[in-house]
Amino acid sequence: MKPLIAANWKMHKTVAEAEAFCRQIRQMEGQFSGVEVLICPPYTALAAVQKALQGSTIKLGAQNMFWAERGAFTGEIAPSMLRECGVEYVILGHSERRHIFGEDDSLIRKKLAAALSHGLKPILCVGETEEEREEAATERVLEQQLCAALEGLDQGKPGEIVIAYEPVWAIGTGKAAVPADAENAAAWIRQVAARYLPEEDMKALRIQYGGSVTVDNIAEFMALPTIQGALVGGASLEAATFGRLALAAGEAVNR
Ligand code: 13P
Repeated sequence: MKPLIAANWKMHKTVAEAEAFCRQIRQMEGQFSGVEVLICPPYTALAAVQKALQGSTIKLGAQNMFWAERGAFTGEIAPSMLRECGVEYVILGHSERRHIFGEDDSLIRKKLAAALSHGLKPILCVGETEEEREEAATERVLEQQLCAALEGLDQGKPGEIVIAYEPVWAIGTGKAAVPADAENAAAWIRQVAARYLPEEDMKALRIQYGGSVTVDNIAEFMALPTIQGALVGGASLEAATFGRLALAAGEAVNR
């Protein structure tokens, strides 16, 4: 199972900028053999990135989607629209969606079920806030988010789920989790997920760490037995930097 190194560009990059990134990263892709590399551009650049990545091993993902197939949902994007753009993965429940846009566990659960039933691989994001961490509530919060998302899930192939542990206080702050904490959180995530996913799917489950991942710290996270990838924000915006990060991740897992 290759670790999944994902670029979450958030609200960055025009189509032209996205195309330039793809041209550059493709020059390095021959060296990414140890890892699966994924790019999640904004919706407006999905089609262009798909075209720019044709014939490449680099995968395409979206940062969000709505659960309905179609209808009066102004501003939203349906799973089939993502599929049409060649999207394979979709990030769901990112903390910015939860905290800035008010997405709750029940909405995220609907999105997760919709993604699976449309053959999209969801990257389900979970994580505690700084306040929750200080109250020693990390395990309770992770458990609540996971149970709400996974309980009774029977559509599609749950084995295709990726779970990203993204502590909210580590996102965009330059203050990454210490590897031991990330390892403990990932171990707990695995334990909770095992209540809902069959053994076979648990074997295929990848848990990513996200939150101030850089070229300099990626190896520490990839060396952890409970972590199989990273969800990268700021350090994914420059192709040369993200390429070096993916390379370092591959070297760390092959060590
Ligand atoms: P940063 O890497 O910028 O901290 O962002 C992490 C993140 O939110 C990825 O989804």
